[in-house]
Amino acid sequence: MSAVAMPQQVKSPDSSSIGQSHMHVVVIALTAALGGLLFGYDTGVISGALLFLREAFHLSPTMLGVVTGIALAGAAGGASVAGLLADRFGRRPTLIGTAAVFVAGAVVSALAGDLAVLLAGRLLVGIGIGGASMLTPLYLAEIAPARERGALVSFNQLAVTFGILGSYLIGYALASSASWRWMLGLGAVPGVVLAGGMLLLPETPRWLAEHGHVDRARAALIRLRGRGVDIEPEMKALRADLGSKAQTRPESRLGHRAARLPLIVGIGLAVFQQVTGINTVIYFAPTIFQASGLSSASAAILATAGVGVVNVVMTAVAIWLVDRVGRRMLLLTGLAGMGVSLCALATAFMMGSGPLLGWLTAGSLAAYVGFFAVGLGPVFWLLISEIFPLAIRGRGMSAATIANWLSNLVVALTFLDLVDLVGRPAVFFIYAALTFGALLFARALVPETRGLTLEAVEALWVARAKDETPHDPESREAIPTPAA
Ligand code: BGC
Repeated sequence: MSAVAMPQQVKSPDSSSIGQSHMHVVVIALTAALGGLLFGYDTGVISGALLFLREAFHLSPTMLGVVTGIALAGAAGGASVAGLLADRFGRRPTLIGTAAVFVAGAVVSALAGDLAVLLAGRLLVGIGIGGASMLTPLYLAEIAPARERGALVSFNQLAVTFGILGSYLIGYALASSASWRWMLGLGAVPGVVLAGGMLLLPETPRWLAEHGHVDRARAALIRLRGRGVDIEPEMKALRADLGSKAQTRPESRLGHRAARLPLIVGIGLAVFQQVTGINTVIYFAPTIFQASGLSSASAAILATAGVGVVNVVMTAVAIWLVDRVGRRMLLLTGLAGMGVSLCALATAFMMGSGPLLGWLTAGSLAAYVGFFAVGLGPVFWLLISEIFPLAIRGRGMSAATIANWLSNLVVALTFLDLVDLVGRPAVFFIYAALTFGALLFARALVPETRGLTLEAVEALWVARAKDETPHDPESREAIPTPAA
């Protein structure tokens, strides 16, 4: 049996080169992270716009569900196509195409004169956000230096939370004039900026090297790290690891054990990220607040905006921590906190309603969102950009992203019926139980990837797969520990 290559740990960065390379990569990452803004804006805006769409198009409750659901189903479709296209044609052109589809969808929805056109627009928007939701972390992970990959990829989630908060504020500002067309159409703005910005950014060096374009990979790295920064060590590592070899690796087959393990982790976390209830809060926060005693609309809106702010701030905290304390620590602490807050929330619902209980509900809900934002929110998208071997990265991320959007759809379609069926406290106790299930799953299976190069993460799975083979005792030693 061939020896398992020891994964590369990240050496201490050379401080003279950091400043320069840092600025370059941060500006590039911020541009690419606009993909997250589209995703967040649309997630948040639709709940406000639905109220007006109901009147404008005389929608029944079922049709309201269809208008929301068609975008979520489109997102699953977008994610499935985007992965294949990104592996075949590159991350950059696929991201530009995705942004264009989103812009088209936003414009069509904003101009819709009848239901069929509205649904077509929502479908296009869904395809766009589904593609962007996987391509943005993928692109960011592949351009980031290993030592700051966690923070840079999580810019995506920060953009998602900004998008959600922005959509609440815009929804609030436009509500008095019932301007649903503006609510839906304004999403086109970050879409245009994303497509324009991506035209100026390079393809990822990893994708170029994997497809044999070594000179272009070098040129891309120089642009990413800035002139004067020695990129040769990174180039050497890339060349050694990739090139024509990548396609023939056993783990390039989805069925291989070293590919199956990350698939289980990626898809498992994708489902848990949704079935633990986050979007019931994002979509229905004002309704939840009103039902629990914050009866005035302005108090409910204030509490909802507060939740949006907590989401942004705690995601920023995650960005600060993720390359310091690691992914596992954030994920496990976040899940434990979410579980406890959900139990508190369900208990508050059981106690009935009233102004005091309203604020108790708001407090536990904010704590729940805060723990999500510091853990499962960003860490899920980060991990799925890191854990798949390069040869299957696009398809692996697609699979996890599809699972995420389909679970999102299932939760959106079942939440209100479940509340009718078993009552609000029981629903949130179910989400709490699923959160504790997620905690056990993550504890058992999620690897620590902090400080490891993507090539080292790949070696980690090969080592784990061998470790499962009873007759291969030495491979146990090959499992890497992250850099201190
Ligand atoms: C999730 C979304 C959610 C958002 C909330 C993302 O990580 O994938 O479904 O709406 O976080 O901030």
